[in-house]
Order: sequence, then structure tokens, then C-alpha cells
Amino acid sequence: MKKLASLLAVLSLAMTASATTLVVNTAKKGAEISPTMYGLFFEDINFGADGGLYGELIKNRSFEFPQNLMGWKTFGNVELKNDGPFERNPHYVRLTSAGHGHKHTGLQNEGFFGIGVKKGEEYRFSVWARSEKGDTAALRVLLVDPYNLAESQNIAEATVKVASPEWKKYTVTLTPKLTMQKAELRIFLKKPDNKVVDLEHISLFPVKTFNGHENGLRADVAQKLADVHPGVFRFPGGCIVEGTELPDRYQWKNTVGPVENRPTNRNRWEYTFPNRFYPDYFQSGGLGFYEFFLLSEEMGAAPLPVLNVGLVCQYQNNDLKAHVPVDSLDEYIQDALDLVEFANGPVESKWGALRAEMGHPASFGLKYLGVGNEQWGPEYVERLSKFVDVLREKCPEIKIVGSSGPSPSGDKFDYLWPEMKKLKVDLVDEHYYANEDWFRKNAARYDSYDRKGPKVFAGEYACHGKGKKYNHFNASLLEAAFMTGLERNADIVEMATYAPLLAHYEGWQWRPDMIWFDNLESVATASYYVQQMYAQNKGTNVLSATVDAQPLTGAEGQNGLYATAAFDAPTGDYIVKVVNTAANAQDLNIKLDKLKKNDKISSVEIITLTSQDPMAENTVANPDVIKPVTATQEVALDAKNPDYTLSMEPNSFKVLRFKK
Ligand code: AHR
Repeated sequence: MKKLASLLAVLSLAMTASATTLVVNTAKKGAEISPTMYGLFFEDINFGADGGLYGELIKNRSFEFPQNLMGWKTFGNVELKNDGPFERNPHYVRLTSAGHGHKHTGLQNEGFFGIGVKKGEEYRFSVWARSEKGDTAALRVLLVDPYNLAESQNIAEATVKVASPEWKKYTVTLTPKLTMQKAELRIFLKKPDNKVVDLEHISLFPVKTFNGHENGLRADVAQKLADVHPGVFRFPGGCIVEGTELPDRYQWKNTVGPVENRPTNRNRWEYTFPNRFYPDYFQSGGLGFYEFFLLSEEMGAAPLPVLNVGLVCQYQNNDLKAHVPVDSLDEYIQDALDLVEFANGPVESKWGALRAEMGHPASFGLKYLGVGNEQWGPEYVERLSKFVDVLREKCPEIKIVGSSGPSPSGDKFDYLWPEMKKLKVDLVDEHYYANEDWFRKNAARYDSYDRKGPKVFAGEYACHGKGKKYNHFNASLLEAAFMTGLERNADIVEMATYAPLLAHYEGWQWRPDMIWFDNLESVATASYYVQQMYAQNKGTNVLSATVDAQPLTGAEGQNGLYATAAFDAPTGDYIVKVVNTAANAQDLNIKLDKLKKNDKISSVEIITLTSQDPMAENTVANPDVIKPVTATQEVALDAKNPDYTLSMEPNSFKVLRFKK
């Protein structure tokens, strides 16, 4: 026994001797880490909104796609009309008898890559309808199995009786007896014949949405967003803010008020990549600015809307005539002022009243506003300056986020940063979709940034593996490594959001993405867990963490190690994040330097994300291949015994919380 003890002592000494020592200065609280530091960026790309986060299961519910019946099959006598009750969505269908008693009139919707339904769950069907002369006409509403997997096609059924010549909303609940990825919705005009019924805004939602809202969000996907504990939520994009032509730009005013009257908009991700072309990709506006603000609030994240600056997508259409002339920006600037009123204004104000009418009399507490997405050149600067002048005067409380263009370096970037400083925007949005090498080498990127200018918002980033653009573990590990540099520079980096957020397995245009889903399941990627580990363990103040007086940034001679440290005021924890990007295990001695006399650390919580296969990924079939694992270890650290030694597995990311 004695022998074993002395062997262990020798071993631990040997380990300490060869270990890298990371000195964490616990005595000096550094820069504050903004509560907004780690957040989420949502864009309707990859069927992220309609067919994704938004709970609606019916495609083209208002018959307003340019091909009005896209997504629908009709049978019998179905006529398209355009004098419906909703001014901005005037189309609807008229159903009349198919003739002979054995024939049917009706229609069928294919959903988004089918309609995913779960056995025994409730789905709320609703329709705006009227019947000719107020005759009582009945509709058979069915969820059907179009591929005939069971004996009967019908997996759920209900009847709707329409008995009014006035347009009214009718609602019934459907409860499927099977779980299916690709059900469809079928509506029959029920016998007896000679009834005429008009139908508009045909909708189907799961009853269980996130927080139970009627015009709500898909629960599993929204829950994953909330489970990150994001500090900021940027919406609605991305390139969709710009549009390819001005009429396609995202217009927030079209996305508030009753959903039935929100106009359909083209989605530029329909046609951006000809090899990933989706002719049926449109924006219903059902997931609109009210819903975005509400989601931000329910997740505890600061809302960060981005508005069009008067430029269309410069990648796709940089003909100067395609943009709004600089002297004609009034409408666009007014949109910004009205948005601030919609979010924060009193209920007596025009836009504050609409917010209250929609269910939220209290202010949403908007503090940040992005103006322009990935814009560049003098055409951006001259337009942005007009917004800045008015916003500074009328909404001095709002922090303005400007752009540094589409890449993290180069001519556009080098031109814009000084211009943003001159305009005195509060934050500059930087985007980097870069390869492994870039992420490996950029953890010190912000160490040398000018501290006197605007702060940084890393608004879109993701590691794109060379030739393998999918969510493999190695990409997420390098994101974790790079993010040590965001946190260490929290005095200048105020927020960061990975991108894109969501992707439908059958409808993606861009990858990698943070969360993937099909019609029934959603899958958190390794990158998701990296974001979550950072967001849930960000702490409140940076602490200096050095090896030989240098930060660990994966620099030459640092063996692929990266680290950052923080103090968390509410819990008193010291938090150390370490990434080992090397293919070999490395011993690390964490020295909690300058602990106070009374500081006794009694346990360490260790959260580890690792995989020995850099190409491993989470899938629907195997969603838990890469997942953080939490362990707790009892320790007795204090000013006299400040050293904690651990072995970092090859390719691993660890968050260590030292608890008093
Ligand atoms: O995240 C995908 C796209 O990347 C965004 O729409 C755009 O801002 C960037 O080019």
C-alpha cells in the first residue's frame, strides 16, 4: 500500500513536471463579458422558417405563390378566385360539386417535403370559409398517407361545417393514428351535392408549439434554440434582408398584424444555387417580427433586427440603378424609426398599439439595430450615414450595427472598418466562413484590435472544412479554439453568432449549419454543443490566463492548445475553457493564482466535448455521437495549493468550473 502511494506521488510529480502550466490570475477581474456575448443568428435559409422553425405545416396556405396552386393538388370542380377577404392575400379557392354522386371535389396539400405528424398528438386545422347563401356545407378534413403504407390512406379525420355566407374562421383538431414523415392534408367537399364553398388560408399547426402559442414555433427546434441560453438573437437574415431586387427585400411591416393578411414574399434562396434549386421556396411572413421579438424574450436574448439599408444583394445585383437612390431613403429610414416604436413605443403610439393588439403591451426592450447586412463600398457608407444621422437624433438609446462586408479581410473589409469608425457606429458586424486553417490561426485576431473604435459583432461564422462542408467534429473543435479569442477579447467583442442556424435535410442550400431537422426530428450538431458550452459558461469578467506570460492561442510552440478564463460573479466560479487541437493527449496544470486566503475550491465541474474521429457527426439515426459529458470532481484548492492538473484528451474541448 505504501509502495502504491509513493508510486502515485512520483507519477503525479512527473505529470506536473511535464505539464504545461496555465496561470489564471484570480485576483484581477478583467473586462466585462457582455451578456450578449454568445447568441443565435436566424435566417430563412435551408427552409429554416416555413417548413422549419415556424409551426405551419401547409405550404402556400393563402394561394399566393406566383403559381397559385403550387403545393396543392385539386380534384373535381375547384376554381381559383381573387376577391377574398384579405386585401394583401386576395386569392382563395371555390369548391363546387363534381357532378355524379361518386365523384369528388376537393384539394390536397403536400406540406414541406410532406407533413410530419406524430401518432396521438393533436394538430389544429383551421380555414377561413363561407358557403353560398349560407347553406350548411360540410368539409371532410383528413390527414392521409399518400404512399399507402397502411390499409386505409386515412390516418386522421374531422368534419368542418360551414354555414355562413360571411367569411369566418373554422377550427377542428386532427389526431393521427400513425407517425409519418410525409403525410398530406386532404379536404373533400362532403355530399349532398350542389353546395358551393369558398376556402382561404388553410392552415395546420401542432397544438403543442413552443410555449403553446397558436401561431407558434415547432417545439423541438425552438427548444433547442432556447437551450443554448443565447444572449442575443439576430434576425431575419442575412441575404434575405436585401433581396435580389428591391420588391423582394425583407419588409418587416409585412410580417406583423393578422397572419392571414401578411403577404407572401419570394425567398432568394429559392434560386441562389442552381444545383440546389427550390422553386417552391417562399416566405409566408407567418414567422414575422412580432414572433421574433417574442422568441428573443422567451429565450432571454437581446433582439437584434437587421434592416435593409436601401441596397439589394450586391453579390447578385450590383448595378447602381438596382439600389435606392441616396436621396430617396426616407421610406427606409422611416421603417427603422417605426420599428423602434413597434418594439419599444408606448401603447398609445401607432406601432406600439399594434404590438399591444398582437398581445404584448410591454416594450420588447430593443437596444440594437443592424442597418444593412453584407454591404460594401461607398454606396453602403453614404446610405448608412443617412440612417445614422436620423437614428442618433431620434433614437439615441439604440446601438447601431454596421457592416464590414462579406469577408474578414481584403479590400472591402479594409475600406469599411475606417468608414465605420468615422460614422461612429456602435458595433461592426464581421463575417467569416473560413477553412480549418483560418480558424486554427485566428484565435489572436482581436488581441491587436483598436480599443477606441466600435465594438465587434462576429455576426456570421462557421468553420468550413476544405472539400467537406458538413458538420464534422473537427470543424466544431476549431470553432471552439477560435472562440477562446472572442472571449479573451471581451472588451472589444460584444457578441458572436454562428451561421446559419437551421437546415432541413431535404431542403438545404448552405452547409454546415448548427441544427439539422427533418419533418419529425431535429439534431444538434457538434457546433451546436460548442456554442452551448460557451453560452452557458461565459462568466462575467475575463481573467488573464497565460503560459509563460503569453495567452494560449495555438501559436508556434503551444502544441495546438488554446485557453481562456473567466470569473462568474453570480456563482463565484472560476471558469477555464481549454481546447486541445493536437492528436495527442496533453497534461495541463491549471494554477489558480492569487486566490484569497478564504477562497476554498471544493469541486470542479468538467464538461468535455471530444471525439477521436475528427470526421464524426451527429445524424438523425445517431444524434448523440458527439455530445458534452459532465463530470464533477472533489478537490481542495486554496492559496497554498492552487494547482489542478488534468489530462486533455487528443481533440478535446473542456469547460472547467472551479466552485467554491
Ligand atoms: O448565412 C448564409 C449567408 O451568408 C447569409 O445570408 C449572408 O449574410 C452570408 O453571405
